[in-house]
Amino acid sequence: FLLVLIFVRHCVSSHPETLQESLDHFSLPDNFLFGMASSSYQFEGSYLSDGKGLSNWDIHTHTPGKIIDGSNGDIAADQYHLYPEDTDLMDSLGVSSYRFSISWARILPRGRFGDINKVGISYYNKLIDSLLLKGIQPFVTLVHYDIPEELEERYGGWLSPRCQEDFGYYADICFKNFGDRVKYWTTFNEPNIQTIKSYRSGEYPPCRCSSPFGNCTHGDSEKEPFIAAHNMILAHATAVDVYRTKYQKEQGGSIGIVLDCIWFEQISNSTADKLAADRAQDFFLNWFLDPIIFGNYPAEMSKILGSTLPKFSSNDKEKLKNGLDFIGINHYTSEYVQDCIFSVCEPGTGASRTEGLARRSQEKDGAPIGIPTDVDWLHFYPQGMEKMVTYIKKRYNNKPMIITENGYGQLNNPNLTIVCHDIERVEFMSSYWDSLLSAMEKGADVRGYFSWSLLDNFEWTYGYTQRYGLYHVDFTTLKRTPKLSATWFKEFIARYKVDK
Ligand code: NOJ
Repeated sequence: FLLVLIFVRHCVSSHPETLQESLDHFSLPDNFLFGMASSSYQFEGSYLSDGKGLSNWDIHTHTPGKIIDGSNGDIAADQYHLYPEDTDLMDSLGVSSYRFSISWARILPRGRFGDINKVGISYYNKLIDSLLLKGIQPFVTLVHYDIPEELEERYGGWLSPRCQEDFGYYADICFKNFGDRVKYWTTFNEPNIQTIKSYRSGEYPPCRCSSPFGNCTHGDSEKEPFIAAHNMILAHATAVDVYRTKYQKEQGGSIGIVLDCIWFEQISNSTADKLAADRAQDFFLNWFLDPIIFGNYPAEMSKILGSTLPKFSSNDKEKLKNGLDFIGINHYTSEYVQDCIFSVCEPGTGASRTEGLARRSQEKDGAPIGIPTDVDWLHFYPQGMEKMVTYIKKRYNNKPMIITENGYGQLNNPNLTIVCHDIERVEFMSSYWDSLLSAMEKGADVRGYFSWSLLDNFEWTYGYTQRYGLYHVDFTTLKRTPKLSATWFKEFIARYKVDK
């Protein structure tokens, strides 16, 4: 695999210079954030300690058959107790920011119902203070998939408009308690993936779907993803409104949203496939960003979905416009897209109208896009980074962008030496960086890069079978051990700082 990687990198590199040479003649902007990323459910553990309420993911992982290895995040990487050690690790790497999420159920154990959990507030205060003491900026996500279970049970979570106001209430508590020290906020992590996996394929809680999309029957895959997304978009606008009217001026921070950004490559040079690749972005990324930035859904979505797509009122549109200060980009992989309107997709593979009549795949005539990795959905295709960033730059008028996640997953292996010699991850990170720099050299306004992830952690439905950390975690002893990639990133950051 390594030899193939090196060979392909050599062949695909769009510009001959090495990463270091690029950095020698191109300076990153001042205050560029070098960071590590994480999330509450995947890292914290202590799922019932100190007054925390149950989240939808606590319930999900305790339901047999949902997680590949039958595991859960009850302990995870135990960051709830080990955060001082993790802060030290980040300090030793020289990073300038740490992206983590707040567990809504730790702050408000019963969602909107019941009291604020003061011990939960105090945990995040301690985490934030320990970071700031080392000069590391907290970069906070309000919802990274997990929400209090009570909201699901009382009114169906994101399927109800009620969650918009409840999210605003929760966000207000966070701004009020932490905003004096937190200068970077994002409302949601990957709401596009969350709605698709929760309401179309049924893999994530509340596991709703209808065939032929997934193997469950108690949902409506045609409609529900759009209803949940609509509520999340308006919930985002509600929180941004709270921040802007009550806190932003005094606290001086910024607020955005994080989307999963897959680069969609047209499968052929035909105009039909080019339009299909555009539609795939409309139905995946622009689905969220267009309303938040321009005030409405992409025209193609409305045209294809008709009355299936909820409508924004004129009040909503006003409230939505210009509803972020930066765009958070999680970029890992790329896919081919084939048109299913003007040309016939192979039998059985045609994408439905809910996916924009654009068929996505990671293969073309049996050959993969880029190089497949240990993780089924993740292909090594560094050019995708530059293409993705350039696409967003163009469509959204070069709004400030932050790479909020980029990373490489390894299959679990009991041999510590093998796992820690993660040369593939180093190759992955340096190639994607190369591609990112190329976009920046051409003017893309990118203000930060966060690696996923600081530590090996709980990888959702894959449990602990995949490792994304720059530090290995032994999930029995919870010992952290640096991998080769940690050393590489540390040297990379240091070299950049010296050069500047
Ligand atoms: C994106 C998600 O935000 C994160 O939670 C996940 O672990 C990584 N992708 C890797 O799959």
